[in-house]
Amino acid sequence: MAQAEIGLIGLGTMGAALALNIAEKGFPIAVWNRTAAVTQKFHDTAGDLASRVIPTETLEQLVAQITPPRAIILMVPAGEAVDAQLEALKPLLDADDLVIDAGNADFHDTNRRDAAELPFRFLGMGVSGGEEGARHGPAIMGGGDAADWDRVSHIMNAIAAKAEDGEPCAARMGDAGAGHFVKMVHNGIEYADMQMIAEVYGLMRDGDGMDAGAISDVFSRWNEGVLSSYLIEISAKVTAAADPHTGKAMPDVILDRAGQKGTGRWTAIEAQHLAAPIPVIEAAVMARNVSARLDERHAGQDRFGAAPQPCNIDPALLEQALIAGKIFCYAQGFTMISAASERFGWTLDLPEIAKVWRAGCIIRSSMLNDMAEALAEDPNRNLIMAPFFADLIEKGAPALREVVSKAIAAGHAMPALAQGLMWFDMMRTARGTANMIQAQRDFFGAHGFERLDDVENSHGPWAMNAG
Ligand code: 6PG
Repeated sequence: MAQAEIGLIGLGTMGAALALNIAEKGFPIAVWNRTAAVTQKFHDTAGDLASRVIPTETLEQLVAQITPPRAIILMVPAGEAVDAQLEALKPLLDADDLVIDAGNADFHDTNRRDAAELPFRFLGMGVSGGEEGARHGPAIMGGGDAADWDRVSHIMNAIAAKAEDGEPCAARMGDAGAGHFVKMVHNGIEYADMQMIAEVYGLMRDGDGMDAGAISDVFSRWNEGVLSSYLIEISAKVTAAADPHTGKAMPDVILDRAGQKGTGRWTAIEAQHLAAPIPVIEAAVMARNVSARLDERHAGQDRFGAAPQPCNIDPALLEQALIAGKIFCYAQGFTMISAASERFGWTLDLPEIAKVWRAGCIIRSSMLNDMAEALAEDPNRNLIMAPFFADLIEKGAPALREVVSKAIAAGHAMPALAQGLMWFDMMRTARGTANMIQAQRDFFGAHGFERLDDVENSHGPWAMNAG
């Protein structure tokens, strides 16, 4: 007897949390996991929500338990597991059933799956917020046909985080892989935000000799101001936490080698394909890669001596620098989204994206409210030109310059913040240096160039001067 409104496959951490969220919002849900014991345990521990959870032992049972036309969420590892699951569902589903891939899929895969002749409907959906978000309110970025999204949007709106104005942080971003694309850029920004926070943490720790508790106090203060955000909030918490084994501050017992599952790297690679400048995000990906080369870094320190030297910088100045860096990073992310919108014909709605990121997701912050407003005023204007952000930059950019200059002089690596500053300086230089590149290209390859004056565009007199 079909009785579930929706189904879910994959009861890992995220899948289990999402299933409980769906059940809690009043939707009966049928669940299935490859290992039957996991499904049973999930049901056994669902507490009051167990009455709305239907555990199933086979895919056939799962399908039979969902009211047609069915909707099934896939929460399995991105990549081959998704393709395998879609294959397994092919003989079981009807043409108007809908499968929703809610994992961190590569949007190219989602485009491919969308274009494939699947014998059922298909949506790709980015879900952000980690386990806590999935359980109590994630940000949801859908991609696929509007009619398919509309069929499940009441469930997505119910389970999504709500912004301050009560609006659910769930929306259809566009066709096919658009949802997973926006989630990928979200993760690129996540990498950059985290890296910039790590850079100012490093300045306080190694430049100023502050202990983790003092750094935590600074982050807590910042969380009351313009920088108020989930990532600053958790940075205050992790620096305040003590290790139960040694009593030391938690950050002081954690190896400085960052992991990554690849979404930040995808963002950097895709930005290159789109010719979209996102140097802050690229620097953050690079920094994770360098962090992984622990042995080489140790050898480097042994051979050349440790780089960071004392460098006292007022945390108030660091705060302003971080505000500027953060605006630059988001401006770059939104520019990349615009470029993708044009390239893939997606008509991505920038203010809507900023709105979806206001709550539930890892990069949620008070600044996203202002970004949503600024983009709504004019989605085609670079975020740095919006009056609210231009005013913040007027104060933040000089601070960023001072911080980066002092930090570099004292040997502190600041890749993401420095790249933000480099980009900003290029973005306000009307007469740059690419005329030199054009001359060189024309010299060795006769590529031609545009001229500043009225003389017809042509080639340089290189042959005359070559000798
Ligand atoms: C989110 C996160 C989530 C996860 C990343 C982490 O929005 O909820 O982005 O998707 O934390 O996959 O990625 P890395 O392992 O690459 O840091």
